[in-house]
Formats: sequence, C-alpha cells, structure tokens
Amino acid sequence: MSIPAFGLGTFRLTDEAVIASVTQALELGYRVIDTAQIYGNEAAIGKALAQCGIPREELFITTKIWTENLGEDKLIPSLQESLQKLGTDYVDLTLIHWPSPGAAVPVAVSMQQLMTAKAQGLTRQIGVSNFTIPLMEQAIAAVGVENIATNQIELSPYLQNRKVVGWASQHGIHITSYMTLAYGKALKDAVIGQIAQKHNATPAQVILAWAMGKGYAVIPSSTRRENLASNLLAQSLKLDAEDNAAIAGLECNDRLVSPEGLAPQWD
Ligand SMILES: NC(=O)c1ccc[n+]([C@@H]2O[C@H](COP(=O)([O-])OP(=O)(O)OC[C@H]3O[C@@H](n4cnc5c(N)ncnc54)[C@H](OP(=O)(O)O)[C@@H]3O)[C@@H](O)[C@H]2O)c1
Repeated sequence: MSIPAFGLGTFRLTDEAVIASVTQALELGYRVIDTAQIYGNEAAIGKALAQCGIPREELFITTKIWTENLGEDKLIPSLQESLQKLGTDYVDLTLIHWPSPGAAVPVAVSMQQLMTAKAQGLTRQIGVSNFTIPLMEQAIAAVGVENIATNQIELSPYLQNRKVVGWASQHGIHITSYMTLAYGKALKDAVIGQIAQKHNATPAQVILAWAMGKGYAVIPSSTRRENLASNLLAQSLKLDAEDNAAIAGLECNDRLVSPEGLAPQWD
C-alpha cells in the first residue's frame, strides 16, 4: 500500500463547481480525489463518481475526519456517513484533519478509532494531517509507524517545512503537500518563471514536479480544464540540481493556513 504521487484537491469547491472539477479531472485521467468532511462536498463528489463510469478499484479517495468527530463513538459513525455521501463502501485513505483542539481527544484515542475503522474495512489506509513532530510521535506511539500512511501538511516553495519533513523522513512517515502552489501565489514567482521557461513548462508544473521530486504526494486543485490537464503533466517533468537549489532559496516560512483555535504550535 502506498499513497499515489498525484491527485486532485477539492477544498473550497462545492455543488456544481466540485462536480465539474472532479468530472473533468477524471476525464483527463486523474484517479485520486482528496476531500474532507468539513469541505461540505462529499455528496457532490459522490455524484460525480457515480456518473463517471470508472470502476471503484481504479479510484483512490481520501477523506478527513473533522475535529468534532474525533472522539470514541463519533469517528466511525462520521466516517460511515462520509462513505454514504461519497457512495462507496470504503475510502482508500482516512486522515485526522487537524489535531483535536486543546488535546480534548487524545491522539491515541482517535488513532485507535482509525485502526478499528481500517479493521472494519471502512478505510484501506489511515493517516494524519497538520501534525507537528510531537503529534507524530504520539501517533507513532499509539499505532506504530507502519500504520501511518502519510502526514498531509502545508508545503510550498515558500513554506518548505524542513524540520517536519526531516523528522518524518528519518522516522519513515510519508509526506503529502497541500497548497503546493501556495494557492496560486507561488505561480507568479520570478525564479519559478525562469525555471519554467528553461523547461518549456508552466510554473505550476515546475512547483508540482519539485514537490514530487522530493517524494511528496501533491493534490493541486483547479476549476479550469486547461489547468487540470497541464498540472497532470507535471508527473513527467524532471528538474535538475540547479533548479532544486534555486527553489530551495525561496523558503520564507510563509504559512497561509493557521486557523485560530485549531492550529497546533508549529515546529
Ligand atoms: N489538510 C488540510 O488541512 C488542507 C488544507 C488546505 C488544502 N488541503 C487540500 O490541498 C488541496 C490543494 O490546496 P488548495 O486547493 O488550497 O491550493 P493550491 O492547489 O495550492 O492552489 C489552487 C489554486 O491555484 C490555481 N491553479 C491551479 N493550477 C493552476 C495552473 N496550472 N495555473 C494557474 N493557476 C492554477 C487554482 O485556480 P484555478 O481554479 O483558476 O485553476 C486555485 O486558485 C486542497 O484542494 C485540499 O484538497 C488540505
């Protein structure tokens, strides 16, 4: 079991917008969809999946458990509701979306619930999101590193998250980069633009290829068919050492996602 390197993000997209994005992406060859209970789009994605005609086993669907559903007796019923909305018997990956605020639900409790969900066949793999080093330590202590398929974190050229990534790689935890494009902000960067020109590629392809080259999975979102199509082609772009060194220099700890009351103390 492993995490596919390339998928489609769906944050902020609901109703017809998410149906259109997912449907076009699937037509173009995407097979990996990232959603979450809090996005309010699982049922719409379920519609798109039901209409697409692609066999379930060819798809890889991730959902994330919202913080209110982390407790014992809550996590599994909430996941069953997600499955119902998505129109599937199982998801491929279930993540804890954010650590429980104030550690109201201990990491060990929610990880154990995820293990039970996996044993019941509701999810093929389990993992975490927005987990810091101390939280990853707790998750490993609870269920063992072999059961943690990924830590999905904000990671872009402007927030390279080296401390977390270094620790995760030393301890065998895979990383998924979210907001790899810094929600479009990094696409206007002059350094990225130069590398794109050099390879006759788009800025988005350069950033996605950089992240995948480092071994991270990526899940860029788009509402535009041409962007969905060109982003997918990032999988065949290979950057060289000079490109990677230039992108390394863009790190500026520019974190875009840190919701008050939800974000842990970042490393
Ligand atoms: N675990 C978490 O807490 C968490 C938090 C945030 C996000 N996520 C996941 O990560 C996914 C990705 O993050 P994101 O959607 O916030 O941001 P993102 O993928 O970094 O950026 C998406 C933005 O970039 C634009 N874009 C995409 N491809 C482009 C291209 N080729 N050229 C020009 N513009 C392009 C899109 O506009 P157009 O629509 O115009 O193409 C959109 O505005 C989310 O959808 C979600 O699934 C997870």
